Amino acid sequence: MRIDAATALYGIIGHPVKHSLSPLIQNLAFKQLGINAVYLAFEVTDLTSALAGVRALGIKGLSVTIPHKVDIIPLLDEIDIMSKNIGAVNTVVNKEGRLLGTNTDWLGAILAIKEKGKIAGKDYLILGAGGAARAVAFGLKKEGAEVIIANRTYEKGKALAEEIGAKVIAWEEISEIKAYGLVNTTPVGMWPETEKSPLPEGALSNFSLVMDAVYRPLETKLLRQAKKAGCICVDGLKMLIYQGAEQFRLWTGQEPPVEKMFKAAKAFLEGRLTVT
Ligand code: ATR
Repeated sequence: MRIDAATALYGIIGHPVKHSLSPLIQNLAFKQLGINAVYLAFEVTDLTSALAGVRALGIKGLSVTIPHKVDIIPLLDEIDIMSKNIGAVNTVVNKEGRLLGTNTDWLGAILAIKEKGKIAGKDYLILGAGGAARAVAFGLKKEGAEVIIANRTYEKGKALAEEIGAKVIAWEEISEIKAYGLVNTTPVGMWPETEKSPLPEGALSNFSLVMDAVYRPLETKLLRQAKKAGCICVDGLKMLIYQGAEQFRLWTGQEPPVEKMFKAAKAFLEGRLTVT
């Protein structure tokens, strides 16, 4: 790839970001489509200065990750309705100097689920009530699902349920409920605690579809249990790739090579890919 005076700059801001898969998948897409652009990871602690830098340097677009997804909102020129509802921005588009905030996390989850299962008219139990849960919950509601929230801290789950018009149940009740879909947005089962699962094995037969937002490891204990129980399984990497693909569409107006991005990210997580 040639870098020259016309090369456009994109990036991810967060803290920490050195583990991010986004540079790998976004640069692959730029390269595949022959777009003269690069995407870098910026370890940002001073968000206000970083945004001033984006404006001053004309950085074309940003992915935004922990801990900046909420705090970035007042620093932008405009945000769309979904990011307003979710209360978080994960994407910034620099449109002729105006910084527009949006959220593609919800769409990432919806596209990943829709690829294998149904949403409209189905009931979904969401585990968690944090940022990821909010994106998934608003997405599922928007697509016509009935949502049930269960969170370790009941009051936080109840507040989210009330906000979106969903039901709430106690964390202790999650193995008793039957629903079409289950989405785990908690970090339970994430590396290095890979032998943990939010649900006892026997409870997986209560669901037809199980999605885990955790993607390290690619197949979590929850997904292993779900597979055994005959459920449709949706992994967190799909959600990640689909939210990134949507960012790419918003920045470039072009269709990214989604399958290639997924394969590269999967190979990287499995330790098979050397980035060239
Ligand atoms: P994210 O942006 O990934 O959603 P977050 O906003 O910190 O991260 O939310 C994490 C969610 O996982 C919360 O709902 C949290 O529950 P609490 O509200 O009780 O903190 C949930 N969570 C974290 N660790 C958990 C655990 N060990 N068991 C169950 N839920 C857990």
